[in-house]
Amino acid sequence: MESAPAHPPGSPDARGEAVLEALAARRSHPRLAPDEPAPLAEIARALEYAVLAPNHRLTQPWRFTVVSGEARGRIGRALAQEAVAQGRLDPARAPLEAAKWRRAPAVVVVSHLPAADPVTAAEDRLAVGAAVENLLLALEALGLRAMWRTGASARSAAVRRALGLAPEEEIDALVYVGRPAADAPPPAPRRRAPAAERTRWIDR
Ligand SMILES: Cc1cc2nc3c(=O)[nH]c(=O)nc-3n(C[C@H](O)[C@H](O)[C@H](O)COP(=O)(O)O)c2cc1C
Repeated sequence: MESAPAHPPGSPDARGEAVLEALAARRSHPRLAPDEPAPLAEIARALEYAVLAPNHRLTQPWRFTVVSGEARGRIGRALAQEAVAQGRLDPARAPLEAAKWRRAPAVVVVSHLPAADPVTAAEDRLAVGAAVENLLLALEALGLRAMWRTGASARSAAVRRALGLAPEEEIDALVYVGRPAADAPPPAPRRRAPAAERTRWIDR
């Protein structure tokens, strides 16, 4: 795709308006219909936009593992069994914990291997975050809804093993993907301080 053509600053063309609208409309969708077919083709397409995120030195640190079908149950059970074995979870609650992986037809796990150099490691983590935002926006553009989660799964050695990740690999996001559940409430109103309250302008 061509880069955006230049036009007078402050007066976006149709493409610019569409981008701004997409940024404003993107929301987290916690209640997805879990039993619909996994939208794997759309996810594959959205991932091609994720990898267009800015990335210093083009290390391309992002790795994606797309989990769907019965794999969700297998990985959920690994998460729950680990928590029980470590005494953090009452065995009676294990099925509930495992079911977290079944909250959507597909979960895109975004991970990266931390670089040895601390500057590169920090920059890589930022680049992966930018890739996740690209992924969320692309999924919405393709008619899907998504939710970026981390939680216990992102820190679990058992989940890393079950996914086939390296022990030292960092999980940056579990992007739950699907379509909204029929009974999903509309997203709560946005809660954001205006950027003006977080911005200093320095001219001299
Ligand atoms: C790094 C990161 C981790 C997140 N982890 C979770 C999570 O574990 N559980 C959750 O409910 N939301 C999680 N979120 C989503 C935020 O809660 C959500 O973006 C925020 O509530 C704002 O809502 P919005 O995305 O609709 O603007 C995470 C977001 C980011 C950037």
